[in-house]
Amino acid sequence: MITRITKLQGLQILDSRGRPTVCALMELSDGSIHKASVPSGASTGAHEAAELRDHGSKFSEKYYSGTSVYQAISHINNEIAPRLIGTEPSTLATDNLIVELDSSLRHERIGANATLAVSLATAKACAHLARLSLAQFYQGAGPLLIPMPMVNILSGGAHANGALDIQDVLVLPHGAKSFSQALSWVVAIREMAAKAGAKKGFVTNLVADEGGLGIGFESSDQACAFVSECIESVGLNPGVDVSIALDIASTQFYSDGSYLSRNSGKKYSPSQWSDQLVELVKAHPIISIEDPFAEDDWSSWNSFMNEVPPTLQVVGDDLFTTNLERLKKGIAEKSANSILIKANQNGLITHTHEVIKHAQNNGFKTIVSARSGETEDSWLSDIATGWSAGQIKVGSTHGSDRTAKWNRLLELEATQECVFSQPF
Ligand code: PGA
Ligand code: ZN
Repeated sequence: MITRITKLQGLQILDSRGRPTVCALMELSDGSIHKASVPSGASTGAHEAAELRDHGSKFSEKYYSGTSVYQAISHINNEIAPRLIGTEPSTLATDNLIVELDSSLRHERIGANATLAVSLATAKACAHLARLSLAQFYQGAGPLLIPMPMVNILSGGAHANGALDIQDVLVLPHGAKSFSQALSWVVAIREMAAKAGAKKGFVTNLVADEGGLGIGFESSDQACAFVSECIESVGLNPGVDVSIALDIASTQFYSDGSYLSRNSGKKYSPSQWSDQLVELVKAHPIISIEDPFAEDDWSSWNSFMNEVPPTLQVVGDDLFTTNLERLKKGIAEKSANSILIKANQNGLITHTHEVIKHAQNNGFKTIVSARSGETEDSWLSDIATGWSAGQIKVGSTHGSDRTAKWNRLLELEATQECVFSQPF
């Protein structure tokens, strides 16, 4: 007997920053219910799919200062649901229907928060019908590839009120032999950073949106040196066991062709900024650098790639915004060698999957990433695993919005046949 969709309902819930976000509930004729919640960013790229919020509309709720998502929800309930109810769940059919209802590239009319919620709920329903976890549903036969975690230790930029120019100083425990070992190392480093930071007189009990420490270092150089010391202090070898990854998120401080450093109070031309970063990479065990240049400063990206060793992972987040056309341009122009994959930058799960496959087929490293506003939903861990991303970026080890993802990976590691990714 065919199992069909009997109900689809959108509802407004809260993300980890206390801001409204969209959740979709899909009910099937076998009685099962599949729930998916979408995240939301703070340092959003201009080319991302567009979240729909109620600012200035009749839906706007005073106490959420216009950030409510009732309009997006009404699109789920009144436009998408009537077309899907009675059909068999299929991610392709759902995503094709959404494109038919809103052909705009950024899903502006229906709202990418609405489209992704329905797209993901459908994927979960399909996995259920196949009697598989979402990870296995995408993986097919063979052991699961558990991704290497990239974990936030220090937060700056838009995530910590500009404490540091750069948005994240993260660690990559690439010497670990298993996911659980990798996680234990980063927990120790995160704890050491809090302890050592307090010893230096910093306030360390305030955590940023993604659970990192918002320590107000004077420079990126100082912040990297501090994280290196913390790696060493827990008995691990910087550059061998654990290396540093940076998310510069430089679009946030790029203006009129210059990079404006709050830390140094200086204005840098793109080539001066590039020199700064090349020096930083030389001075510290940095293995990965994300958004070193602004989202449309394409030529600087390409020059930078010629300056740095090919072993350095150069990641496009705001540059690519999980968009196939932008990725193709970046591959053709050799702008980067890695892409951050955020499903809500794209808005549809099948299209996001196409982007990651295209990146992998072109030799790019891939990192599936959370947003600063997250929920307790852990689909991210399943898709990162099922899509063989190799790496996952979730924020820090604090906050259940973050640990939900780590804990799901621990569960997969403990219960499924799997191997641990070794991307470096
Ligand atoms: P966001 O930042 O989720 O606040 O946009 C995450 C990132 O830049 O990687
Ligand atoms: Zn980023």
